Amino acid sequence: MATKEMDKLLEHDADGIQEYDNALPRWWLYGFYFTIVFGVVYMFYYHSFGGPSSAQEYANEMSEAALLYKRTAMSPSAMVAKSDAATLATGKAIFEGTNNACYTCHRNDMGGQVGPNLTDEYWLHGGSFSKVMESIKTGFLEKGMQPYGTGAKLNDEDLLAVASYVWSKRGSNPPEPKAIEPDRDKKYDLDGNPIP
Ligand code: HEC
Repeated sequence: MATKEMDKLLEHDADGIQEYDNALPRWWLYGFYFTIVFGVVYMFYYHSFGGPSSAQEYANEMSEAALLYKRTAMSPSAMVAKSDAATLATGKAIFEGTNNACYTCHRNDMGGQVGPNLTDEYWLHGGSFSKVMESIKTGFLEKGMQPYGTGAKLNDEDLLAVASYVWSKRGSNPPEPKAIEPDRDKKYDLDGNPIP
């Protein structure tokens, strides 16, 4: 069996520096082949087969972000709580349904669990009707609540219905509500006006 010859000095030298004629390590070679394949695929994908340009990628991300953080497109005059039975039933179905599952964090009676109590006069993000709608629309991702007004979740009509349902439960005093969070200190009366 031929043993691999290692550390055999090559003839040439450059200013006194000589080198061995050893095979490149496998891991290095495979890494090198990978970069070649990657480079070829990358070039064809982005330059020949219509992969997005950086400008397009930027535009795509910006429009996604705009959708994610889009404030409600409804005119403020349309953002008026409804109290008819059909709207409240739709709102209740959204709140208690498994698709949006508001109840998992706020409880069916809205006394609060992970999320705050939605029935008392204290609010984190404002307790006027349009603020409540906006809270539901934009959500609070950093606290775990989805932006419900984006994508396929809730359209403006659904938002109006579920917000109206939340609105209808204010002052309902559910038993054993979640304690008032220290920063949930904005007070609003039942008409949605701030209490100083
Ligand atoms: C995964 C848990 C979770 C789910 C599901 C959830 N929320 Fe929330 N919600 C929260 C948390 C947490 C907050 C408080 C955010 C903060 O601390 O800034 C909140 C805040 C709110 C507020 C603002 C309250 C205030 O005091 O200003 C409203 C209104 C609200 N949620 C309604 C809803 C509705 C309606 C749904 C269903 C469509 C829903 N939430 C689903 C966790 C949740």
